[in-house]
This record gives sequence, C-alpha cells and structure tokens, in this order.
Amino acid sequence: MSSVQDYITSNKERFLEELMDLLRIPSVSADPSFKQDVHRAADYVKSQLEKSGVDYAEICPTDGYPIVYAEKIIDPKAPTVLIYGHYDVQPADPYELWESPPFEPVIKTTDIHPDGAIFARGSADDKGQFYMHIKALEAMTSLGDLSCNVKFMIEGEEEVGSENLDRFVRSNKEKLKADVVLISDTSMIAMEHPSVTVGLRGLAYLQVEVTGPNRDLHSGTYGGAVANPINILCKMIASLQDEDNRISIPGFYDKVENYDKEYREELNKAPFEEKDYRKKLEIAETWGEKGFTTIERVGIRPTLDVNGIWGGYIGEGAKTVLPSKAYAKISMRLVPHQDHKEIAKLFEQHFISLAPPAVKVKVIPHHGGQPAVVPTDSAGYFAAEAAIEEAFGKKAIPTREGGSIPITSLFQQELKLDPILMGFGLDTDSIHSPNEHYGVKNYLLGIETIALFFKHFKNQFEKANS
Ligand code: BES
Ligand code: ZN
Repeated sequence: MSSVQDYITSNKERFLEELMDLLRIPSVSADPSFKQDVHRAADYVKSQLEKSGVDYAEICPTDGYPIVYAEKIIDPKAPTVLIYGHYDVQPADPYELWESPPFEPVIKTTDIHPDGAIFARGSADDKGQFYMHIKALEAMTSLGDLSCNVKFMIEGEEEVGSENLDRFVRSNKEKLKADVVLISDTSMIAMEHPSVTVGLRGLAYLQVEVTGPNRDLHSGTYGGAVANPINILCKMIASLQDEDNRISIPGFYDKVENYDKEYREELNKAPFEEKDYRKKLEIAETWGEKGFTTIERVGIRPTLDVNGIWGGYIGEGAKTVLPSKAYAKISMRLVPHQDHKEIAKLFEQHFISLAPPAVKVKVIPHHGGQPAVVPTDSAGYFAAEAAIEEAFGKKAIPTREGGSIPITSLFQQELKLDPILMGFGLDTDSIHSPNEHYGVKNYLLGIETIALFFKHFKNQFEKANS
C-alpha cells in the first residue's frame, strides 16, 4: 500500500465530513436569494485551502461572485499545476423530487455505488470533485512528497456561464502561469472503465419572447381570429429541426467538423450499452440526428434543445385565455469550430425571420462558451493516463463529453495551456437533477489519482523538457 493510500484511509471520515460541511452551504449562483451562501462557500474553500497546506489563499472579488485563489510554490524551477473548479451549484429545484433534502448530505448505497454515495446538490458537480484536489494537496504536503508547485483557482459562477472569469484570466496571466491545468468537473464511463475527457461541447443559450395582442384576451371572443403567441412559438420551435433531427438554421453546420470513418470507429469502441442506457432512462428509443450513434450525437454533433417554455395560464383548473406572450429558453450545444457568438447571431436572424407579421419576436442572448478539444500527446495527458492506470489498474479511454465548461477553451487561448479533464463522476450521478450524488469510492480513489498525477506530471514534464 502506498503512503498516499494509507493517508487517505486513515483520514477518510474527516475527508468526508469536510466535504459534507461544504455541501451544507447552498451556493446556488443562479438565484440571488442565495447570495450570502455563495460568499460563505467561497470563505469555506479559502479556509480549507489554508488548513490543507497552501502558502497563501485569497478571495479575489469580481463583478459577480469571487474567485478563490491559492498557491503553494515548492521550487520555482519545478513544474506548476493549476487546478480549476467551481464552488457554485445549480438550483436544487424541484425540491419535492429529492429523497433527502439537497443541502443536508447523506451517504446511501446504490446499485452503482455499493460502497455508498453522498447525496446532495453539488456533490459531483463540482464540490466533491474540486475538493479532492484540496485533500490530495493535504496528503502530499503531510507526507512530504509534493513534487510540483500548485495553484488553485476555484470560481463561483460556472453554472451561470463564468462571465467574469474571462477578465480575471486575461488580467492575471502572470499569477496563473502554470504548465498544465487540471480540472475535475467531468465524468468517467464507469469505475471498471476509467476514462479521460478529451472534448467538451460549447454552448449558445438564448431566451425568446413572442408577443401577440397587447393584452391577454378571452379565448372565445378572440380565439381563431387573433394569433396565439404560444401556438406560433410552438410552430417556430418545431420548424428548427427537420425530420432527420438536423437543425434547420441556415449556416448552422457550415463550420462543424466532420470526423473521418477511423475516428468515428475509434470513438464508438468505448464501452456503451444502448439497451442499458434506455432502460436506466425508461425510454423506448433514443432520439437524435439521423446517421449518428448515441456516443457521436453526444460527443461530436451539435444540438438544439428547449430548456423551458411558458406563457398563458398554468395554475389550477382551467382558464380560457388567449395569452399576450409566450417564452422559451433555448440552448444549442456546439462542436469544434462553431463559434458561440456566431451561432447565437444565426439563431437570432433565423428565428426572427420565422415569425409571421401577426406576432413580434424578441431574442435575448444569455451566456455562451466555446467548444474544446484536448490534445492526447501532451505531458499532462500522459501523466493523467499513467495516474489512472496506476490507481484503477486499467488504461484510460479517451472520451468526448456533451457538457460544457466555458473556461476550458479560454485556458487554451489565453494561457496557452493544455487543460486535462480528469473527472471522476459518473453520468448516472444525476448532476443538475434531483438526488445528485457522488460515490465515496470515486471521491477517495480520485484523491489518490490526483496525487499520482502530480508524481507522473513531474516526470513527464522533465522528459518533455530535457
Ligand atoms: N460539470 C458540468 C460540465 C459537464 C457536464 C461536463 C457533463 C461533462 C459532462 C458543468 O458544471 C456544467 O454544468 N456546465 C454547464 C455550462 C453552462 C452553464 C455554461 C453546462 O454544461 O450546462
Ligand atoms: Zn454543472
């Protein structure tokens, strides 16, 4: 047994308790009523970093929620690992679907997590995942085998688009100078099939508003003679995809990278059971762009989804009304070479052109983020492969994931750094859904793998620079 393993085993209960304390803070960045709690989470992260061995930690204010920065420099000549994570979480709604309250963490076993999983909002996304890095640092410093310098940048606005991070990164290039960025905010295929994420999709998110008459009308007096904005909105949305589930916005696919047969075959070799996937979701069939597999639809193809749609009367019973307004929140996941600003523009032009003169349309852009692809021949990637193989006893499979982490491409662009997406969650952990959870084993093995990453990164870095 390695000493890091021993250290984790003997401190397991405390490592779990500390994470659960963090999970008790409802740091929901999207909802202003949680403002105090979001700040409280930042303070907790700072104090835990200080207790875990950094030289110093600070709260860096932004126009939104602060960024917690910390560092430990052991030797200016040693390579530096920059850790990124986020302490904010998604709203926990709908609360009634949680089996235990979202901000009162409990450990329960499941079929997939026979050793237990921590149930709480943010357990896998991303508190449980970035906290592993703080505990890996503690283990390495306590054992005296920290081999690289380490910097932490833990933000509080990832779930709302990281809008203030751009400026922070651009104006703190020297402070953030590093040799690799390590991020645990993604998932693995399974404990028996460890993987490293090598691609994330980008995102363009917009809200649309369709206005018909200047006030709500009696649906008998006016119905049939005046355009109903909800009916119109539904037609407009329905026309955004054709019968092959391809997106019908002109120019949408112009820059989409088409992968060759070899790459697609390689991608489809990853372990995946379509039947099991359907069964877990209780769906009779999967759905998506014709001509692509589920792995491809999620990993290398763009999408358009309505995230929410509302208008008219949605209260108890029935009210006969022809509403004045209808709304929808629409997101598009993007793949390499698609630019989120360009796509948002294309969407806006097209959506407005779809509207008949009977209604007025407003398109309001929300946040966005660029897609990212991670090279698999860097010192960081080799270190991740070696660490995973040593900890899990299996070679990591490179995967393309469908989610987005807007900062990933910013690190590549602004800091010229390779981000390594070494996450330990599972797709079934219900992130953004009720009953989010994170496996206890994933947490502990993650800490060990991160410590191993440091060891291998030092070697790989020296090899690459000798
Ligand atoms: N951890 C996720 C990103 C993720 C999800 C990566 C699934 C891989 C697989 C992250 O916290 C997240 O949810 N990001 C948002 C980004 C958005 C708010 C800009 C997302 O993907 O919806
Ligand atoms: Zn998330």
